[in-house]
Amino acid sequence: MLSQRIVSPNCAMNQISLLEKDTAPLFKTIRSFVHRQTGLSKERVRALNTLLTPYSLPLNEGIFNLKHIFQRNASTTLEIGFGMGHNLLKQAHCYPEQNFLGIEVHRPGVAVVLLEIERLKLHNLKIIHADAVKVLNTCFPKNQLDRIQIFFPDPWPKRRHHKRRLIQLEFAKLLQTKLKTGGHLQLATDWEDYADHMLSVLEHTSGLKNQAGKNQFSPRLPQRPLTKFEKRGQKLGHLIWDLVFYSIN
Ligand SMILES: C[S@@+](CC[C@H](N)C(=O)[O-])C[C@H]1O[C@@H](n2cnc3c(N)ncnc32)[C@H](O)[C@@H]1O
Repeated sequence: MLSQRIVSPNCAMNQISLLEKDTAPLFKTIRSFVHRQTGLSKERVRALNTLLTPYSLPLNEGIFNLKHIFQRNASTTLEIGFGMGHNLLKQAHCYPEQNFLGIEVHRPGVAVVLLEIERLKLHNLKIIHADAVKVLNTCFPKNQLDRIQIFFPDPWPKRRHHKRRLIQLEFAKLLQTKLKTGGHLQLATDWEDYADHMLSVLEHTSGLKNQAGKNQFSPRLPQRPLTKFEKRGQKLGHLIWDLVFYSIN
């Protein structure tokens, strides 16, 4: 039972450590993130202490039932690694008729999104404060998502760190099983080498088909807003690569 959700600026993430303890032996995870010790304002600490219960999903109650969570059947998008929430919040605000889920480990981003859910009274957005690899393995039903979005995942540019990249064949296969037939996997990056790697991985993932044609990148999604990390890439003079694949079974 996840009864304690008390967070102080210095404590570890209760949900993540609990999930690690409970499920670690069941599958191999990817160490795709580092826990940065960032200071949190009082307001963000309040958000983590009081808003996780109403606006996030519990990790100890088995497989998520999306119809119960949102009290309706509607198109559902999952964003993994939403950062400071620019894309997730914009979509949830602009498309009230759709459901949105976001997974993130970074506490300041989680806190900002919780505060915005409260301020804007968003009933169509829930977040999950945990490692996406573990949550997808343990809590997500199969064939239920209309869209999975991963924008500007950590590129891990050094060769010896490539194994820490989130987009790998096993993970792509896992993502494919969570999509409905016809559901979309949407990715973007500003790292050329990672873009090529993503394209190759997704082309080799059975059950996924490239919307742009084999080995092609996609045009920028018109509704994709500029996020913090896309802005950073632009400042560095990087080009941006979008990929859109859909599930064929
Ligand atoms: C480079 S940032 C991009 C954030 C945002 N998408 C953007 O475009 O600004 C990557 C984010 O993914 C998150 N992340 C990395 N691995 C993750 C995982 N396994 N589960 C959940 N979040 C993860 C990191 O905490 C970080 O906030």
